[in-house]
Amino acid sequence: MKTFELNNKQHIPAVGFGVFMIPNDGPTYDATLAALKAGYRHIDTAAGYMNESDVGKAIKDSGIDRQDIFITSKLWLQDYGYENAKKGIENSLRLLGVDYIDLYLLHQPYGDYLGAWKALEEAYEEGKLKSIGISNITVSLWNQFKDGMKVMPAVNQVEFNPFVQQRELRKVMDENHILLEAWYPLGHGNKELLENPVICELADKYHKNAGQIILRWIYQEGVISLPKSTNPERMKGNIDIFDFELNAEEMEKMRALDTGKPTHNPEDSANEVRLSQLKIHD
Ligand code: A2P
Repeated sequence: MKTFELNNKQHIPAVGFGVFMIPNDGPTYDATLAALKAGYRHIDTAAGYMNESDVGKAIKDSGIDRQDIFITSKLWLQDYGYENAKKGIENSLRLLGVDYIDLYLLHQPYGDYLGAWKALEEAYEEGKLKSIGISNITVSLWNQFKDGMKVMPAVNQVEFNPFVQQRELRKVMDENHILLEAWYPLGHGNKELLENPVICELADKYHKNAGQIILRWIYQEGVISLPKSTNPERMKGNIDIFDFELNAEEMEKMRALDTGKPTHNPEDSANEVRLSQLKIHD
């Protein structure tokens, strides 16, 4: 598995397995174990997914050394603010059953964001969180928060795929040496994307499927991807992308697919209201 170097010199596997919307108490355990067996060494969960404990159990039962697996989790909004965030971090460590988390993100850009970030910074200094980062941050939100941050985030996890290329955001993140991570790298199974003629033509040429072409393109763009699949064959296939290379012209053809329109707008106040109402504990 290829890795990228973060701005604090830590290494992150370029493709991770995302467990968003997979239920706890079995399904996430099975999916994580299958992903580890398939060769994934980077698992992306979140307190808000409510499946950290299954991820932790699967990692333990996999027999793979803890230090060989890169775990990402995220703090949920309900635990924002400095004091709550300290508890939230401890809770993630407890549910995952680990004494450090490789990468920990602020999941959503609302509430007492900088209070929560301060708690992440302290846990980072203490070594409980090896890297810390942000998620769903637009250029305007970045400009709003950046001066209140002492530790530069290592990543910004946002919606990213050939239809949603986040050009302006990428430029600003690049200037700050913050790597982009792609959620919905396959457009959440969007048929228009997976059946796009440009992508299908490349799939034929390289004897790969459309998903693999997209994930290879994302990798060559220098972006970490977090594809999700419950299908064991696709799960394996989605990391089998390191034996071919798209040429410059093909990269450009893929870049031309950008619609410039994310499906999720973090600046929409309706999202803030909706997400702030989601409670993950009493
Ligand atoms: P499945 O679980 O049946 O494989 P995203 O990661 O962007 O959220 O996309 C996940 C969706 O894409 C799931 O519905 C998943 O279905 C599907 N998927 C995952 N890998 C591939 C692939 N290589 N080709 C086509 N569809 C895929």
